[in-house]
Amino acid sequence: MILEEYRIKGGVSLSGDIEIGGAKNAVVGILPATIITRGVCVIDNVPMIQDVISMLRILESIGAKVNFRNSHCVEIDARGVRCCTVDYDQSRRLRASYYLIGAMLGRFGTANVCMPGGCDFGGARPIDLHIRGFQTLGASFSFAGDLITATSPCGLRGKTFYFDKVSVGATMNVMLAAVTAAGTTRLENCAKEPHIVDLANFLNLCGANIRGAGTDTITIRGVSELHGADYTVMPDQIEAGTYMVAAAATRGKVTINNVTPEHLESITAKLRECGVIVEESGDSVTVDARGSLVGCNVDTQPHPGFPTDMQPQMTAFLATCRGNSFITDSVWASRFKYTDSLNKMGAKIRVVSNTAFVEGVPGLTGAHIKATDLRAGAAMVIAGLAAEGVTTVEDIEHIDRGYEDIVGKLTALGANITRVQTTDPSSSQVAAIA
Ligand code: UD1
Repeated sequence: MILEEYRIKGGVSLSGDIEIGGAKNAVVGILPATIITRGVCVIDNVPMIQDVISMLRILESIGAKVNFRNSHCVEIDARGVRCCTVDYDQSRRLRASYYLIGAMLGRFGTANVCMPGGCDFGGARPIDLHIRGFQTLGASFSFAGDLITATSPCGLRGKTFYFDKVSVGATMNVMLAAVTAAGTTRLENCAKEPHIVDLANFLNLCGANIRGAGTDTITIRGVSELHGADYTVMPDQIEAGTYMVAAAATRGKVTINNVTPEHLESITAKLRECGVIVEESGDSVTVDARGSLVGCNVDTQPHPGFPTDMQPQMTAFLATCRGNSFITDSVWASRFKYTDSLNKMGAKIRVVSNTAFVEGVPGLTGAHIKATDLRAGAAMVIAGLAAEGVTTVEDIEHIDRGYEDIVGKLTALGANITRVQTTDPSSSQVAAIA
């Protein structure tokens, strides 16, 4: 079997400019939302990542016509969608397949979707809040193995629903189902992530009536149907944050373009606390980490707090900063599997419960490590870039799910990184393909 891995010769300070693509966690909600419409949608600034490809395949499999206008612009005609079933093989490819439940309920009043896949953070990733939200609107559920069947024989009706935990996925999913429900839906204790606002903006452009996205309370007045629209996906906060932290970890100077600086505030604040200079200008941020840096404490929280999806990358960086850092993950308590790999590279990290205690070391050394999930994979790449010597990162298919052309983008910043094929995990001395 052919495997692929990254080979990184570290120790080079990143320098130059980089362009950020469209937001993964926005587009994986917007693409399924197109099936609620009875028209043609043209979605621009679509990142070419594996999660997008998986979602587009699912849309095609249920009858949507998908046509690329260019490499980042896709036209979706969902008028012909008839099938309401997504099988296990498709659902398990990405977490966001759960949005098909909300979208199909909204369009057809019925959905058969298998339990979603996605990153394994070492603990349960429940969808009970999604289901309780749909049930409040009048949907009934049955479960057979992995298959979730939702129906609403009498149609969905707007109600008030309180999320007893702040959940990005549940907020977006119940919003999808509610746009065509009869009457008014009021969602309370909603997640406030920028991609929730992006999904609401797209749906409103298609004729929905959603107010309050980005606040605790979202009000949705149901409309009978949605029409098609042209929409440009917002920039990816986490891709931008990853390159900001990569610049800091390599003590480089990088300008990151096509970003929304306000969405990066929590990351910017922590980097500044460590001594990194971060300057914002229009839709760019410049990260200058050429000084001496100290550690800091981080506690992940729902937006506008520090994002859990930046926790592994930040930990890799803090491992290289003077002094001690405490990193607590208050969203995904066991998201620290990757720290074993950082310790293999010479980091000093001890995990107790949902906190990593990091004692900064003067430098990391290259090692053979694995990407245990998408953002942990990004952290491994950052550690490899910062380390002296050669690092190989296995299981990079996780990274492909969320980063477009990470090799090309880092190479343009001066990094020495290649994607290599290997048939034997113990020897990666085979042809470079990128
Ligand atoms: C989304 C993101 C993921 C990110 C996470 C938190 C997508 C596709 N994925 O995941 O990258 O790490 O937000 O920012 O956008 N919870 C429940 N019951 C539920 C749902 C969630 O208890 O029904 C809990 C979870 O266990 C977790 C917390 O709520 O502790 C937040 O999860 P949630 O925001 O729902 O994450 P996802 O939408 O799965």
